[in-house]
Amino acid sequence: MTEPSPNPLRDPQDRRLPRIAGPSSLVIFGVTGDLSRKKLMPAVYDLANRGLLPPGFSLVGFARRDWADEDFAQVVHDAVKEHARTPWREEVWNQLAEGFRFVPGEFDDDDAFERLKATIAELDEVRGTGGNYAFYLSIPPKFFAPVVGQLKEHGLAQAAGASWRRVVVEKPFGRDLTTARQLNAVVSEVFPSESVFRIDHYLGKETVQNILAFRFANAMFEPVWNSHYVDHVQITMAEDIGIGGRAGYYDEIGAARDVIQNHLLQLVALVAMEEPIAFDARSLRVEKQKVLSAVALPGRLDQHSARGQYAAGWQGGTPVQGYLQEQDIPASSTTETYAALRLDVETRRWGGVPFYLRTGKRLGRRVTEVAVSFKRAPHLPFSETATESLGQNALVMRIQPDEGVTLRFGAKVPGTGSGTELRDVNMDFAYGGAFVESSPEAYERLILDVLLGDPPLFPRHEEVELSWQILDPVIAHWATQGRPEQYDAGGWGPTCADQMLARDGRTWRRP
Ligand code: BG6
Repeated sequence: MTEPSPNPLRDPQDRRLPRIAGPSSLVIFGVTGDLSRKKLMPAVYDLANRGLLPPGFSLVGFARRDWADEDFAQVVHDAVKEHARTPWREEVWNQLAEGFRFVPGEFDDDDAFERLKATIAELDEVRGTGGNYAFYLSIPPKFFAPVVGQLKEHGLAQAAGASWRRVVVEKPFGRDLTTARQLNAVVSEVFPSESVFRIDHYLGKETVQNILAFRFANAMFEPVWNSHYVDHVQITMAEDIGIGGRAGYYDEIGAARDVIQNHLLQLVALVAMEEPIAFDARSLRVEKQKVLSAVALPGRLDQHSARGQYAAGWQGGTPVQGYLQEQDIPASSTTETYAALRLDVETRRWGGVPFYLRTGKRLGRRVTEVAVSFKRAPHLPFSETATESLGQNALVMRIQPDEGVTLRFGAKVPGTGSGTELRDVNMDFAYGGAFVESSPEAYERLILDVLLGDPPLFPRHEEVELSWQILDPVIAHWATQGRPEQYDAGGWGPTCADQMLARDGRTWRRP
């Protein structure tokens, strides 16, 4: 007798079944902010457009604006029109817009939270949202505690019966280890750990998830993924933009806290971790935590860290102003807009392989990549002149843009001349060429995961703490060093960053 074939409509493992969120609603605090308009609202629409939200899905905005629901709907409309990834579909919009509500109020206004409570009850009634609410804190960190406290006070954090309440916390999770712990204490007093979703949007990027697929779905890379073959790893997140309208946030934070503490250390963890026993949240976090626990800072931070601040320069053919001339930035600011750091992962696999991290605003171009540089062949049976222009083999995972993977290796230059000449060539995989599907935005994936209660892509508190433990001494060191070096906008950062690598006999890649 043959086995009955599973009914694809009933088999929850069937890959063809889209992951559709159940009855639910998203409440965004800080709905007037940049993130909300550029990323969250468009992501909600794109999810709805892809059929991944339930018909009664509702979006509630909470902010200090004297808006009616219609004003809020107009703001969402404009944000979606400008930033959504998928095409405009009137019927999708109309259905979604029926679930828009706006609650005006301050974060310390008890009446506003009572209004929020009433709004939620009304949505459960008319939209069938089932008491399931995710509260998204897209607000400055100083408001995290008061808002979480209000949710508790007004009975919004506790779910009744089988329904759920979740809280989504945008970075930065604190500004150092102490404040991260304080924040965690506040949040965990109100929400159990499985209901807390910390956003690191890099983990929502397809190409970042591909790091694990690349490493663990293939047999040919893992054998060389260690100190026997790898010389060093460079992780770059370069941006061509300045700080835009975020002076208030950025000047308090700087490049290291903004990007290294979260995105870049998460990339280090994914590149360096051992194979997890399963691809579930627990197993992944265990392996990432091991890497972060094994990270050691260099003994001489003055030699192996670097920071800078962009000066005026040119970008894309237009003159741009320096950081200190940006609106609302004090002329005496010592906040870094560029940060670079050497780290070592003290494990058997990685002993002696430096990881170099760098990030900066107003650099030559926007690019995020992980470049694994391999050791040179121990012997080259060619004449010296043949190998003059031969570099190190490298595997570059291009996170963005031009998402893909490049393998660089030496090849013989064609020709019949007397001598052999070798030169580096690239072998390229580009997402755009290999797949017809376009990648969803990171926030689409993450918002959907929150609504589904799916935690693998959200860092746990322990990872956040470990990351601050790594970074705190670096920031404390810089605080004793006076002003950061200025670098020209449109260039590749301060000379001290080049010197940092030169001390190790290496150079930064020019992506
Ligand atoms: C954010 C930082 O986390 O990432 C910003 O706060 C930065 O300063 C942004 O511009 C970059 O994100 P992406 O996805 O464009 O690389």
